[in-house]
Amino acid sequence: MVKISPSLLSADFSNLSFEIDRIKSHADFIHFDVMDGHFVPNLTFGPMIIQSVRKNTNLPFDVHLMITNPDQYLKTFADSGADILTVHAETCQTLYRTLHSIRSLGKKAGLALNPATPLAFAENVLDVIDLLLIMTVDPGFGSQPFIQKTLPKIKKAKELIKTADHAIELEVDGGIHPETAAWVREAGATVLVAGSAVFSSSDEPRTAIKKLRGDKP
Ligand code: DX5
Ligand code: ZN
Repeated sequence: MVKISPSLLSADFSNLSFEIDRIKSHADFIHFDVMDGHFVPNLTFGPMIIQSVRKNTNLPFDVHLMITNPDQYLKTFADSGADILTVHAETCQTLYRTLHSIRSLGKKAGLALNPATPLAFAENVLDVIDLLLIMTVDPGFGSQPFIQKTLPKIKKAKELIKTADHAIELEVDGGIHPETAAWVREAGATVLVAGSAVFSSSDEPRTAIKKLRGDKP
């Protein structure tokens, strides 16, 4: 069954404990969008916030680093309670080393590619990634429309990760709602990130998450 990673970017930041309580028995991961105002034109939160909610749940923390110079902060985010640390290919000069460093910290290593970034970046580092994140919007904000041109790339990514000698999750992020969720599930995604479709929905999180999985509500 496809995994759902609700993004707290669309949650009520003044009440994160309550928001996590609403989703924790329905979600598979919790997605944290860390933005630095440099790599993306928005600022969110850092490791102290992640650490402060680590006690709320044992669900894996799926930390999406949209920051320049991620190497500088890997240990801090690892210590904050992250389980998966995902870096953007566009931010790394020495990508193999960065991904290897994440694994050396005992965490799962994720590689994110923006919509315009070729899949070739993943080919050369396949042996050091545990998760490949295909962005289906340009990162920076929630509630943006899904870019349909990314669908063939998701299908190619699925074929690519089948060639690895270990399991790699195929995650998608941006513009995921019940209709686009069906498209990306069909394309082979195994983890769907969803912010507004979970936290800004008129449905309760349980129902919203079921719809993203393609289950009957
Ligand atoms: C975008 C973030 C996403 C965002 C998705 O920069 O990486 O995780 O929260 O939001 P929705 O699901 O509303 O498109
Ligand atoms: Zn994200």
